[in-house]
Amino acid sequence: MRKRFALLLLALTSLTLAGAQTITVKKAAFQKGDNMEWSKPSFDDSKWQQMDVTRNWDDQGQVLNNAFGWYRVHVTIPKSIADKAEQKETILFDLPKMDDAGEVYLNGKLIGKTGGLPGDKGGYRSAWNAPQSYALKLNEAPINWDADNVLAFRVYNAGEPGGLFDTPVTIHMPHRTDGISFAFSEQRGKKDLCTVTLGNSYPVTQKGTVVVTVSDPETGATLSTTKKSVSLKKDKTVAVPVAYDRSKMNAINVTYTDGPSGLQLTKSYIPKYILTPPAPLAPRFNNAPVFGVRPGSPVIYRFPVSGERPMKFTSSNLPEGLTLNAENGALGGKLERRGNYTFTVTAENAHGKASQEFTVRVGSQIALTPPMGWNSWNCWGLSVSQERVMSSAQAIIDKGLADYGYCYINVDDAWEARERNADGTIAVNDKFPDMKGLGDWLHANGLKFGIYSSPGDYTCGGYLGSIDHEKQDAESYNSWGVDYLKYDWCGYGREFDKEKDKNTAAYVRPYLLMEKYLREQPRDIFYSLCQYGMANVWEWGEFVDANSWRTTGDITDTWASMYNIGFVRQAKLYPYAKPGRWNDPDMLIVGKVGWSSNLRDSRLTPDEQYTHITLWTILAANMLIGCDVSQIDDFTIGLLCNNEVNAVHQDILGKQGKPVVIDGDLQIWERELSDGSYALGIFNLGSENQTVDFGKYVKQLEHGSLKSLRDLWRQQDLSTSELSYFIPTHGVKYVKASFK
Ligand code: GAL
Repeated sequence: MRKRFALLLLALTSLTLAGAQTITVKKAAFQKGDNMEWSKPSFDDSKWQQMDVTRNWDDQGQVLNNAFGWYRVHVTIPKSIADKAEQKETILFDLPKMDDAGEVYLNGKLIGKTGGLPGDKGGYRSAWNAPQSYALKLNEAPINWDADNVLAFRVYNAGEPGGLFDTPVTIHMPHRTDGISFAFSEQRGKKDLCTVTLGNSYPVTQKGTVVVTVSDPETGATLSTTKKSVSLKKDKTVAVPVAYDRSKMNAINVTYTDGPSGLQLTKSYIPKYILTPPAPLAPRFNNAPVFGVRPGSPVIYRFPVSGERPMKFTSSNLPEGLTLNAENGALGGKLERRGNYTFTVTAENAHGKASQEFTVRVGSQIALTPPMGWNSWNCWGLSVSQERVMSSAQAIIDKGLADYGYCYINVDDAWEARERNADGTIAVNDKFPDMKGLGDWLHANGLKFGIYSSPGDYTCGGYLGSIDHEKQDAESYNSWGVDYLKYDWCGYGREFDKEKDKNTAAYVRPYLLMEKYLREQPRDIFYSLCQYGMANVWEWGEFVDANSWRTTGDITDTWASMYNIGFVRQAKLYPYAKPGRWNDPDMLIVGKVGWSSNLRDSRLTPDEQYTHITLWTILAANMLIGCDVSQIDDFTIGLLCNNEVNAVHQDILGKQGKPVVIDGDLQIWERELSDGSYALGIFNLGSENQTVDFGKYVKQLEHGSLKSLRDLWRQQDLSTSELSYFIPTHGVKYVKASFK
């Protein structure tokens, strides 16, 4: 993240245009080493080497690793640019990037910084790609008007390449149109509307024309054009609503033309579009027909059946010891003896009925298919409360997500007290008045209860961890009815530092310890390891009887994060997943997230969200919804509740998918399915829309020629001969293919 200083103004529009009064400099004097004297304008740099600031120093004969280098740019700033400007509050400095970290001085005064330098409080941190745009208040900026100014860059590089790069030094006054902003909002009604709101934050009246077109990116056709003349005073907005088709990808393109100068600003936006067809009103089973439980453990399972309520559930050949709730389809009871128990469940409503042959497999293995549910972290962060958990759980039922198998309701960090009870048992904080009540309520609804702790003294959020109290904690979890434990390394880092031999055994130790106590409890507790993939956890997760293990650090709602975690980091992990053992690339980042009380829409574009869910189903990853379900919209429900997409995720073969074609920005990932077919995610990871000739790659898959092909998101059969697909930037075509 770009750091801004007190004297810098925030919130400049990203549409800054370089007008006529722009000063651009590409050359600098350069010296390796580090000396604060070099920030001063009076220093004589005439003997320094000349360098181009837009190319790394490695390109220009300097290789400096774990070292500093300084650049000094001399520039005359004419007073006239300020005098002629319409906006006299700020002056803008758009500067080259600093690889890996550094500071910028204007005439000896620090005006900007990126990353962390080795001597800094937080230590070294690379921000090699951070943009550097600084808005200085004109009356405070240390500028020598009509004379020489020195911009000095102190750059630290950890590893090649290094130094300044990317753009030249650009200095300019803001243009009138910098005050213009665009916002887009979507409204659902008889007609679906997208409203483009044009705002003006500058104290000049903006006069111009706005043109909004709706286009179909697939064909390039313009579907509608709306024009409007605007005269916008400071802090005023004008709204232009346009209709669009929500069942496919539409682009809303806006162009604002400034009347006096003719300058144009443009922005495109893709509104959310829903591919998942509506579910039939009649009952439909949306689950894998198998469930694993250990002998004597309570069976907690809610049949995921979509369709209109009320619905009646009945069974035939239900094994003795099990019960089926006729209203909500929750299976209960227990079975003491190992074996496969197969019976039939029927769901019936006003529109029809459906039956499923279902097997409860009583044995050593639970989580025969990857877990589905909800976790509080990506939405509420440390502001989670029992009330918030219950509100998402209730919404999982009311909005039909439980009918697709989302059943774990997991409380992440921040339920714990700061101190234990006098007898050493774990205490809850006042946001969680009744843990047992919460567990009972979830179970009555056929849902499962998840909790979070750390093997260390404190959790990442600074709450109590389980160290030296593992047995007591496991017993508390049992008494509350916990079905899932996320056990997060975090505070254990301090313990680990004391270890002499930091070998794999040292990483395994805390997880083995908790496993012992979890397994002593008379219930099944899904064991979810969270230690970010250290010491190749996928190689020994099974040894500590873990059901899943996080493979990376935390995900956030950006393309870069999802791409890196999902595509780059999981590509080689497929051999380690199987029924009961899953790689966990972290929780879902769709819907309203925020890691705090301030929730916002996920920053992923609609296509990035289709890619995210597609990939997680191919990866057989834990599918834990990370948003506030009480505020979920129908786009997000469509993403999470597509029965054909989810059927891949829950496929009982339990194989994790892998990349099979990598061709530039195009990647095809495949997952082998139990019926002999393959789920294929055809991903466009590039920043341009593409038309992909899938036929070109069929041979490379080495499964023979195509027998059938189905579009999983749209739930439509596809031709096996016409194989050209439009795939938007960061988007996917998700197909199920069988071969002959
Ligand atoms: C992190 C973990 C997150 C979340 C958080 C809670 O270590 O990776 O998923 O659990 O701690 O403090």
